[in-house]
Amino acid sequence: MEEKTAIVTGGSNGMGKAMAERFASKGANIVITGRNEERLANAKSDIQSKTDAGVLTVQMDVRDRDDVQRTVDETKNAFGQIDVLVNNAAGNFISQAENLSENGWKAVIDICLNGTWNCSQLVGKEMIAQKTGGSMLNMIATYAWTGSAGVVHSAAAKGGILALTKSLAIEWGKYGIRVNAMAPGPIENTGGAEKLFASESQVKQIKRMNPLGEVGKLDDVADAAEFLVSSQSRYVNGDCMTVDGGQWIANSRYM
Ligand code: HXC
Repeated sequence: MEEKTAIVTGGSNGMGKAMAERFASKGANIVITGRNEERLANAKSDIQSKTDAGVLTVQMDVRDRDDVQRTVDETKNAFGQIDVLVNNAAGNFISQAENLSENGWKAVIDICLNGTWNCSQLVGKEMIAQKTGGSMLNMIATYAWTGSAGVVHSAAAKGGILALTKSLAIEWGKYGIRVNAMAPGPIENTGGAEKLFASESQVKQIKRMNPLGEVGKLDDVADAAEFLVSSQSRYVNGDCMTVDGGQWIANSRYM
């Protein structure tokens, strides 16, 4: 990833930060985006204390297309071009479908599906204009295809992102832009873990359900991301890599 520039949305903590830090450690310039300026500043100083990478932070909301365009422009100003986009920003909470409010549905669809679309289209246009190719990685979840109780909004959004991934992979292959997805399972120290399996007993149950008997680590996600965005996976396009210890084939239900 030497000399490449990677944008990671939702990059100030959890999986986003782990992926950004990995790309930085492999020689990439990184752009991390998020809504909270303080968290972005902390992530930047932490990554800069461990790597020599160029690190740009952009406070933005993936739901706002002006914010996304500003991120594209600031990235170009800072580093010249964009090679990698990781659509990692997400929003989620557990709610029974019958109790989910109209705004609750809209907030999650807007952050996950519309946010991924906004970033993909505006960065994609830039990559096409650059004529350099590029790669995109969209973070989803295995319930994109299994469905799950308690997260109808997130499952619908992630299912949409999977279809978006495959569609753009077909359409933009001719520009040398690869578009793939990753479906992490339960990963410790993430926003998803905090929200979906917060208690000790839930974690124990998740481990019991998993063929490997454990929850994943941030490094497992970073390893897969490094492969999927770099030239190591140059012939992988429109695919989804599941990083869940085999959980969904054993038992797709989280709750
Ligand atoms: C019921 C809730 C709720 C909850 C919010 N809402 N939290 N309803 N239970 N716990 C409702 C609100 O009441 C409101 O509806 C509507 O959702 C919008 O809420 P806001 O707080 O105004 O929205 P916003 O500030 O945009 O926040 C969006 C959010 C928030 C999704 C609600 O949680 C967020 O920003 N999360 C980002 C971080 C995150 O969730 N990371 C986890 C991703 S994990 P009303 O009707 O009251 O106006 C993931 C996959 C995990 O995606 C897969 C694991 C295997």
